[in-house]
Amino acid sequence: CSARAVGRHQPHAETQRMSFFVAMCCIASLLLGMPCFSTVRTSRKPHNVASARAQVSCRKARHAQKRLRFNERNPMSRKPLIAGNWKMNKTPAESVVLSQGISNRYSRKWNKVDVVLCPPTIDLRSVFTVLDFDKSNIDVGAQNCHWEPSGAFTGETSIPMLKDVGAAWCIVGHSERRDYFGETDSMVNKKVRALAESSFNAIVCVGESLAVRDAGDAVRFVCDQVRAALAGLDAHEAEYCTIAYEPIWAIGTGRTATPEQAILSFVSVKQAEEIAAAIRATVADLVGEQAAANMRVLYGGSMKPENADGFMACPNIDGGLIGGASLKVEDFCGLVEIASG
Ligand code: PGA
Repeated sequence: CSARAVGRHQPHAETQRMSFFVAMCCIASLLLGMPCFSTVRTSRKPHNVASARAQVSCRKARHAQKRLRFNERNPMSRKPLIAGNWKMNKTPAESVVLSQGISNRYSRKWNKVDVVLCPPTIDLRSVFTVLDFDKSNIDVGAQNCHWEPSGAFTGETSIPMLKDVGAAWCIVGHSERRDYFGETDSMVNKKVRALAESSFNAIVCVGESLAVRDAGDAVRFVCDQVRAALAGLDAHEAEYCTIAYEPIWAIGTGRTATPEQAILSFVSVKQAEEIAAAIRATVADLVGEQAAANMRVLYGGSMKPENADGFMACPNIDGGLIGGASLKVEDFCGLVEIASG
């Protein structure tokens, strides 16, 4: 009887069993020179065809091939991306339960979407181990990184460290990091460049405050953030970037509209699409039309299954960066299902 089957009736037992399993895997990987953690997701390249062609390797080869074929069939289409930003939630043991719950719901339909789980740094290895064990096509991402590969930066995590635990994505410049931890445009740019140089996918967050929106300055503010974040990148490096547009005042508030509420709500789908289009035009200005056409722009800010349809139907919105709803298996999987069409 598998740990998973038992766990349906005994959640605590499942947590203990999975924790034990993760601990065993970690010890085994250390003893064996980490063959599984260092070679698989760490080389994950951006979603475009040219780069995907360059890195088909190891046990993920089948999945990468599938992704390649999807993109070749639809050279101009952008594959939707649903990324879960767990923020500072879930212990390593809890992260095993949540990622296992999401992985259990994986179906072939999900191949039409790129799915990324971004747990706290300390959970990365556990989550990667669960997904790798299930041979899942779901990727793992970090919520932050430092731009230097190593050094005297107490409390920070470098990109090589993230690669080593199986992460292939990193959120950069989230408004909570900007507001609470003093992350500036220049720091965001250093991180974005370091990630691109390391062939690591960046989810670059931009978004205006309510004061900026009320002043009618949202488009200019957000586009300036995009310019600052991508400064110095060429078209190839930009392939590693996804932009997440997250109006700060819509994050975690539940103020995003369902279609019925749209007319009364603070964020309408139309406003989000307008900013997403402006972001794409800014990217075109910076790195060219082709790179802009390929780049994914996500919406973030209280996105839930109840309101996702409208956002997903927008021509310039290619998925979501999901906070609160990414902590509930039902909601997160519901969003992936919507994105897979
Ligand atoms: P939310 O968070 O979905 O809880 O609003 C989104 C985010 O902060 O990335």
